[in-house]
Amino acid sequence: ADPAERTIAAFARGDPVLVHDAADREGETDLIYPAGAVTPDAVARLRNDAGGLVCVALSDGVASAFDLPFTREIVDHPAADGDALAYGDRSSFSLTANHRDTYTGITDDDRALTITALGRAAAAPDDTDFAATFRVPGHVHLLRGAPDLLAGRRGHTELALALAAAADRAPAAVVCEMLDDAGGALAPTDAQTYAEEHDLVYVEGSALVDRLG
Ligand code: 5RP
Ligand code: CA
Ligand code: ZN
Ligand code: ZN
Repeated sequence: ADPAERTIAAFARGDPVLVHDAADREGETDLIYPAGAVTPDAVARLRNDAGGLVCVALSDGVASAFDLPFTREIVDHPAADGDALAYGDRSSFSLTANHRDTYTGITDDDRALTITALGRAAAAPDDTDFAATFRVPGHVHLLRGAPDLLAGRRGHTELALALAAAADRAPAAVVCEMLDDAGGALAPTDAQTYAEEHDLVYVEGSALVDRLG
């Protein structure tokens, strides 16, 4: 099958996938899991092998059911004033959260608990009392997807959520940038090598946009 189909199939199984957005956007490859499939070992892999910021993308519908705003819209500080990011998009950052049963919130066990609970909550938003289940702020960054997904924005946030929809997964996905040992974005060729070594799928965002957009 082509890379987009293989990515959807892997995601449906709960396997992580590697998605490069575009050379003229961030030029980053994120390691992405369905939130519901995340274990403490998966959080360790995100920390050790990806190394970026561990975030959970939620669909616009779920974010609105839970009353989760964009950070840029609620922060009344001059640092929040200004234009779009360097490559033209608005940030998808929302609040940060911990599950209420976490202790510090940062350990692999704690973050896995927060993330899997976000997966369950996203699968049944109407049955979830967000404030009774999670506390804000916390150690997992929440991202809010564009309402029309890839038609509205082509970030990892929307690529991950479009993948979740195609794979019949709840609209909650963990994304984390892959960095190299020098601290820069991992080059796409190195991300492909990592994928091959670990038997994972690597896909270009453009291939997902062609298939799902
Ligand atoms: C949060 C980010 C990442 O780039 C993440 O991939 C989400 O952002 P986007 O949707 O803009 O790609 O900055 O760590
Ligand atoms: Ca302001
Ligand atoms: Zn990104
Ligand atoms: Zn980024």
